[in-house]
Amino acid sequence: VTLPPSPPLLYPSFYAPAAKDILPDLKFPEGFKYGVATSAYQVEGATKNEGKGPTMWDWASRQPNGVYDGTTGDIVDLQYFLYKEDVERSAALGVTAHSFSISWARIYPFGAADSPVNTAGIDHYSDVIDYHLAQDVEPVVTLFHWDTPLALQAYYGAFTSPEIVDDFVNYAKTVFQAYNGRVKTWYTFNEPSVYCGQVASSPFDATLAPGVNASTAPYQCAYNLLKAHAAAVKAFREMNITGEIAFKSDDYIGTPWRSNTTEDILAVERHAAFQLGLFANPVYTTGDWPDIVKDTLPAEYLPRFTDEEKTDLLGSADFFAIDAYRSLWVKAPDEGIDACVANTSDPLWPVCNEPAYFDSDYGWPEGPAGDPAAIFLQSTPVAIRALLKGIHSRWPSNKMYVSEFGSIEPFAYANADISQIKEDVGRTDYLLTYLGEMLLSIHEDGVPIQGAFTWGMVDDAEWQGGTSVRYGIQHVDYATLERTYKRSALSLAEFFGSHLQD
Ligand code: NOJ
Repeated sequence: VTLPPSPPLLYPSFYAPAAKDILPDLKFPEGFKYGVATSAYQVEGATKNEGKGPTMWDWASRQPNGVYDGTTGDIVDLQYFLYKEDVERSAALGVTAHSFSISWARIYPFGAADSPVNTAGIDHYSDVIDYHLAQDVEPVVTLFHWDTPLALQAYYGAFTSPEIVDDFVNYAKTVFQAYNGRVKTWYTFNEPSVYCGQVASSPFDATLAPGVNASTAPYQCAYNLLKAHAAAVKAFREMNITGEIAFKSDDYIGTPWRSNTTEDILAVERHAAFQLGLFANPVYTTGDWPDIVKDTLPAEYLPRFTDEEKTDLLGSADFFAIDAYRSLWVKAPDEGIDACVANTSDPLWPVCNEPAYFDSDYGWPEGPAGDPAAIFLQSTPVAIRALLKGIHSRWPSNKMYVSEFGSIEPFAYANADISQIKEDVGRTDYLLTYLGEMLLSIHEDGVPIQGAFTWGMVDDAEWQGGTSVRYGIQHVDYATLERTYKRSALSLAEFFGSHLQD
């Protein structure tokens, strides 16, 4: 694969002079992973090939109004068959790691521990891993990126049931055994907060098994998912699997709307406890739910851990991974404010990238007054530094990965035509500024970041958004499946080329 030349940036950055411009000598630490990311459902296609069982998303994407533009996972990027081209195209950019997920239903078509294993699926990922290694791109593997085997959803409501723990651990062990020694960086779960938060909302609600209570389902999910994580990590260690393992956290730590008010400062902490903390405290700091969460949610909603479970949870991660997309203002709920007003106070936050909203009862749907903090979402590369610092001070670890970061084309080209999509100057500006802030975070704040994975390697199926929402640094023509580098891909290659150590 030959890289086309990267044209000069056509207009000035939206942001203040960033590290990319003023700190050309700052380097990423040795061994830093320059990564791209994907997930099975979002790129593989081939949903009915080579013995794969149906997943929850194969079902959900076919429901009326399930996906905005009607995209199913049946074809999308067809990476299942085109993986060599995709690995080569990434290698040509100098990428050193690809974070992808294995589809549970390709290994166990029915999901369950006492059901048949599909050797075609095991062989397929074995080939995929070998090809990455041959191209000098490290394979980084996630075991579960939301594509639950449909049978498990039907049998017992997937993660709303404790039965999931044994089935997940059985699947995890099979995969650990199969790829031990070739995969060195593992994740059990992708973004548990988003996943469990959606368990009781569209398009998931229609898949709740009989008897599953929509109000408590997200919390049961959090409980069972964490137990499955701890049990899988225990197996990983008992089996002496080489390498390191964690889960991919998600979410953000807010900025107090009025930095001088105790109410807003407390609202930030409350929000952090209910989102990141719900999964991070048990694993990184206390072995248990955050106190404020326990004080708010009765055990019928959020089951309590036994002492043994706490012991298994605490320390069940070798590093901290964060999918870091957003930051937000948080204020105590007393009045509605249009979040976009906030932009005028900080020229570095130029545009509301997501619909601003005021939510007086933030938290999971139907929960008992979960988290009464108001939030305003903002997507800004500048806030990344505060987020990474905030995470590292609350849940310290020896090593962190930004396991995903990225953006839809945020600013100028919401309705871009094809040439403008390839010329994604807004995304390019976003990504480079973001990486500049990450360099400052490493050098100025001492946050031990050892890798950054851009979402996504290619355009893909953005869940309910379908293929209409293009997150990729490579464009995919869905009529021909042709891949084309966007400006962002070429600029990232240049940036990493000059900031990675030799
Ligand atoms: C995080 C999720 O892990 C991924 O599946 C999704 O496509 C990206 N964010 C972008 O929304």
